[in-house]
Amino acid sequence: MQSFSDIAIFSGNAHQELASAVCKHLEMPLGESEVFQFSNEEVFVRILDNIREKDVFLIQPIVSPVNTRLMELLIMIDAAKRASAGRITAVVPYYAYGRSDKKDQPRVPISGRLVANFLEVAGADRVLTLDLHAGQIQGFFNIPVDELTAFPMLSDYFRGLNLEKPIVVATDVGGAKRARDVAERLGCDLAIIDKRRTGNDEQAEALSLIGEVENHDCIIVDDEILTGGTVASAVDLMRGRGARSVYVACVHPVFSNKAFDVLDNTNIDQLIFTDSLPLVFGSFNNVNTSKLSIASLLGDAIHRIHTGGSVGALFR
Ligand code: R5P
Repeated sequence: MQSFSDIAIFSGNAHQELASAVCKHLEMPLGESEVFQFSNEEVFVRILDNIREKDVFLIQPIVSPVNTRLMELLIMIDAAKRASAGRITAVVPYYAYGRSDKKDQPRVPISGRLVANFLEVAGADRVLTLDLHAGQIQGFFNIPVDELTAFPMLSDYFRGLNLEKPIVVATDVGGAKRARDVAERLGCDLAIIDKRRTGNDEQAEALSLIGEVENHDCIIVDDEILTGGTVASAVDLMRGRGARSVYVACVHPVFSNKAFDVLDNTNIDQLIFTDSLPLVFGSFNNVNTSKLSIASLLGDAIHRIHTGGSVGALFR
């Protein structure tokens, strides 16, 4: 195995708080760099530390403004490559465009694949990511992809709540596998919602439920929340079926403008999410929230990648 003399971690402008927390966990400084836009909106990057032959990790979730943050990441990779980095890992805790992962309508793109191509062409040697919208997105890359999951961490959180009659609820059939994993970790049953999307207008409707939630403490799990429509409709369905409490957990709090209002006005006992990306569009007023940090998970994975350890072993 090729070994790299030293490790260096840098952040774009997407989530410096997370990058700093990762470095704190690893007891190392965050590398110095300049990442900014000129007045014509072109992105410019300058890495201020010597990274020749180093094992370089660039932390950048692809969040709003999505296309600017993506360009920052691509240009940081290019800068690192031209600075003779030994190996470059793009650390992308939230992989935007992941929902565009198949050609499910005539004449539509597969943008998730295109972003993978961009990262490779820019010069990334590896990708470290977290809970992709669909696991098969890993196959869009021809370079190694380590996909971490925050669901064990979310499961531990729920175990700590000691709910009397928990049941895990998947918001759609596509999310059934990860919901089952959480249910298995909690030793409880699983229910699955049959969700319908009517078009490309971000509207979702929970149609029916496979499973029995009456008098149960429902734990609705999803990979991400954007408008909050999926969750609001799922919570209404649970309440209508006699749930005694409803918790909602997601990994990626993408939360559009509208989501804050929607979720503040939904009957949720608690909303739990991670810091895989910052809340850029607003904040909550009513709903009881809890944020779990993925910094130590990312830090441990970076350490293992750097030292040639098993990343999968983090989840055993
Ligand atoms: C969809 O397949 C995902 O798992 C989420 O349910 C979806 O992205 C949530 O979007 P929204 O909050 O806009 O309903």
